[in-house]
Amino acid sequence: MCKCCGKGQADLPVDLKGLKLKEVIKAHNGEKGALIPVLQETQEIYGYLPEDSIKTVAREMKIPVAEVYGVATFYAQFRFVPTGRNIIRVCMGTACHVRGALKVLKTLERELGIKAGETTADRRFTLETVACVGACGLAPVISVNNKVFGNMTSQMVLEILDKFE
Ligand code: FES
Repeated sequence: MCKCCGKGQADLPVDLKGLKLKEVIKAHNGEKGALIPVLQETQEIYGYLPEDSIKTVAREMKIPVAEVYGVATFYAQFRFVPTGRNIIRVCMGTACHVRGALKVLKTLERELGIKAGETTADRRFTLETVACVGACGLAPVISVNNKVFGNMTSQMVLEILDKFE
């Protein structure tokens, strides 16, 4: 995330993203076990793993495309479709679960008309669940674009949605 404008790498123009990807691959050149970090950084650049980026990773790292796909699909952290402009993460860790995370999640699913793991048709929101985010004292917790909101109630999450275009 850029410190001056708050934009992420996913906001870069497409051709700059391609250049950035090649820089990432070059930076990991010859490194053992580099594929996962490269895929993580690719996802940071694009917000997900577009098909072309996977082909570029495979070509530049001299790994078969099927193998890159095999690794990427094995890990739940990788996405293959674009996310919404705002990513809501509902913590489902133990403390949050005990203090009503499921109710918060159900409220968001109902309000947004999507299930966890999905993106609204207008691409305004992607809804995800995560394990403990380390703010158990504030349970139940959600984050929107990595900003943490604690002590959530169903009413409060609805008010938070209005803050994000
Ligand atoms: S369980 Fe949710 S922040 Fe720890």
